[in-house]
Amino acid sequence: MNLTIIGTGFVGVVTAAVYASFGNEVIGLDIDEDKVAKLKKSKVPFYEPGLEELLKEQQQTGNLVFTTDYQEAIKNAEVIMIAVGTPSAPDGQADLRYVFASLESLAPHLAEEAIVVIKSTVPPGTLEKAREIIGQRTKVKFHLASVPEFLKEGSAVEDTLHPDRVVIGATHETVFAKLEKLHQPLKAPVVKVKPESAQMAKYAANAYLATRITFINQIADLCEKNGADIEEIVAAISPDQRIGAHYWYPGFGYGGSCFPKDVKELAAYSRSIGEGDNMFNKINDLNEDRIPRLLESFEGELDGWKDKTVAVLGLSFKPNTDDMRESPATKVIPILLSKGAKVQSYDPLANWQEFHRLENLENNHQQMKTIEDALQGAEVMMSLVEWPQIIGFDFAQAKTNQLKWFIDARNQFDPEALKKAGYHYLGLGRTS
Ligand code: UDX
Repeated sequence: MNLTIIGTGFVGVVTAAVYASFGNEVIGLDIDEDKVAKLKKSKVPFYEPGLEELLKEQQQTGNLVFTTDYQEAIKNAEVIMIAVGTPSAPDGQADLRYVFASLESLAPHLAEEAIVVIKSTVPPGTLEKAREIIGQRTKVKFHLASVPEFLKEGSAVEDTLHPDRVVIGATHETVFAKLEKLHQPLKAPVVKVKPESAQMAKYAANAYLATRITFINQIADLCEKNGADIEEIVAAISPDQRIGAHYWYPGFGYGGSCFPKDVKELAAYSRSIGEGDNMFNKINDLNEDRIPRLLESFEGELDGWKDKTVAVLGLSFKPNTDDMRESPATKVIPILLSKGAKVQSYDPLANWQEFHRLENLENNHQQMKTIEDALQGAEVMMSLVEWPQIIGFDFAQAKTNQLKWFIDARNQFDPEALKKAGYHYLGLGRTS
């Protein structure tokens, strides 16, 4: 099948490479010439395990090419997938300007019976606007569909190859048939629904998982006060088949490019259609307040942050990615600095200076190359992300007289072993 993917961000590049690997002729289109030039040389502008290898392999077979030229990319495409960014607008709703701009640009070049699929996360009602935008610019017969993306960063290639389900939102049997055929090699259950349902399903899935994380964080906070242990509670409730064991890890709140944005968007969307304030707003507030609140309670335990050297381990929002969007570190480090602490950070991949390249660098923060360097002279150590390099490190061995406090933001370490090594251990909702 001739397939064009518009937008070579995270979702676009992974989708292009995976669909090419099924023998489709795929064109990846982006208006960013720099990005396309790099992709032509198989260089991915972000880290994702296995992606560069797959990209190179598919480019060598000739199944996958990249371009900035709309005419070249659209004229023979049977299916066009839009995977451009939908950042949040100031009022919290999805800003659809890039989706609409790509629809305007593709419309004049569409082939007869082409299917335009929106993969970007968009609110219900977007396909009507898409129909209007394209209809004003072409006379050919075209179709629209919504196929939301559920991949996770850090395992995006695997998730795309082995999804739990494929959700296809369309209105015509011929469109369902063609998109089902395209997704057949994935051997995943296909859920055929109305476009509005597909769009809401994406918001519902992300908002549910964000709610679940917020819920377990709240239970962990209660445990702090009553002597119960959150890890024991998770073990006690997970065997209930209605509940299950996934997405049950307490922490400093959810981050990344999707959960925070999608929860806020769902809240704003709800207000925009007259449904008023709702639980999504509250979930967002709880998540945003979490880090300042936790740091304040730790501050009491260790007698103030002022003049303390803190080793902050883990800068990305989760392991196996260099993505720092809404990561705990981006909230923790500025608070520590504002309270007069000195920060020595470490991450196996993420680069603080690159992320903050437009801002002034703080004098009191230095990113170190190794965990040992970050711990040098530190009084407090804080593990924010469950990178294997961090959770596999021998902190008992690294204990010094100066290094007293161990903050375990993901409950990844054995409190007893660390206490035995002489640390004052602070986890989340764990009896200490
Ligand atoms: C998420 C969705 O999982 C994915 O389906 C969607 O397409 C995009 O958003 P992603 O942002 O890559 O994927 O990461 P995910 O692994 O889901 O984690 C999101 C955040 O939740 C991270 O900050 C993570 O640390 C946090 N989290 C996750 C918890 O705090 N506890 C958990 O139990 C699980």
